[in-house]
Amino acid sequence: MFNSIMMFNFEDRILPMNIRPRRNRKSAAIRSMVEETKIGAEHLIYPIFLKDGLNIKEEIGSLPKNFRWSLDLLIPEIEECLKLGISTFDIFPAVDEHLKDKIASYSYSNDNFYLNAIRKLKETFPEMVIMTDAAMDPYSSDGHDGLVDNGKILNDQTLPILNKMALAQAQAGADIIGPSDMMDGRVESIRETLDINGYTDVSIMSYTAKYASAFYGPFRDALNSAPKSGDKKTYQMNPANKREALLEAELDVMEGADMIMVKPALCYLDVIHVLKENFNIPVTAYNVSGECAMVYAAAEKGWLNYNLAISEMLLSMRRAGADGILTYFAKDFAQLLKK
Ligand code: PBG
Repeated sequence: MFNSIMMFNFEDRILPMNIRPRRNRKSAAIRSMVEETKIGAEHLIYPIFLKDGLNIKEEIGSLPKNFRWSLDLLIPEIEECLKLGISTFDIFPAVDEHLKDKIASYSYSNDNFYLNAIRKLKETFPEMVIMTDAAMDPYSSDGHDGLVDNGKILNDQTLPILNKMALAQAQAGADIIGPSDMMDGRVESIRETLDINGYTDVSIMSYTAKYASAFYGPFRDALNSAPKSGDKKTYQMNPANKREALLEAELDVMEGADMIMVKPALCYLDVIHVLKENFNIPVTAYNVSGECAMVYAAAEKGWLNYNLAISEMLLSMRRAGADGILTYFAKDFAQLLKK
């Protein structure tokens, strides 16, 4: 046996193969030339949590490296991100419990700290793109995205509240409104409200296929916005369904959405793909809090290489078909790209 290996003629080992995919992987330059998917800072949207007050930078327990910021400390942070090439930010308000009510009235109130902050941010950084969430949950004493009556989430009665909220956000300077509530008909209703008030240039990125997911936990911790009772399964989608995402997308496109989103991202790459194949407006993916928290935790324990893991995850979303990606990794990843 030993002998036969020693005697093995090298030539004999060359197999007749015309096609050897490894030739296209033989050097970094060639690998890069034939790379099918590109990802840059221009694809990133950075979700940020804002809190009323001064000098606040509170780390979120279940989402390390992410903070509730007061505006004064957020401004230099945004400046840093802009320098890294991140231009779009999705800003969420952490609202004091005593300001929450059944109808989310604080969401469009005149002295809303969040709306004032958006005004200030647009003034400070005119080039910054600001996205806002249109849903009741951060402002609702019930912790639901819609109006609750006797344990039921009312659809049509929620729409006027979303209209007021979206209009207030547009008036404050939001560039993109993100209806994230999954009520039926909200895109049309918000589009109409924006248009009749002269905000025809404000975009709508609809949370089109938003699933009732286990991966929103850290986000709800950040805003203290978990449902006070029940769950969100009567409005958010069943994780078992893909064809239903096509219906949701068809409706959003007809109703006037400029971009459609899939959320979460990682467990739903097939949904991103199918929407990209079937619709001709941009598709975005929301790499949600729980998906990021898993990586932070594993990396902290030394079980995963953080930089490699986030790069591969974000690339997979682009490969599946996402144009833009909302991700808590945005700043770290943009820093990586600079290196
Ligand atoms: C609220 C909203 C949620 C997220 C974005 N907007 C939470 C929810 O629907 O309960 C989740 C984002 C994340 O987990 O990162 N409508």
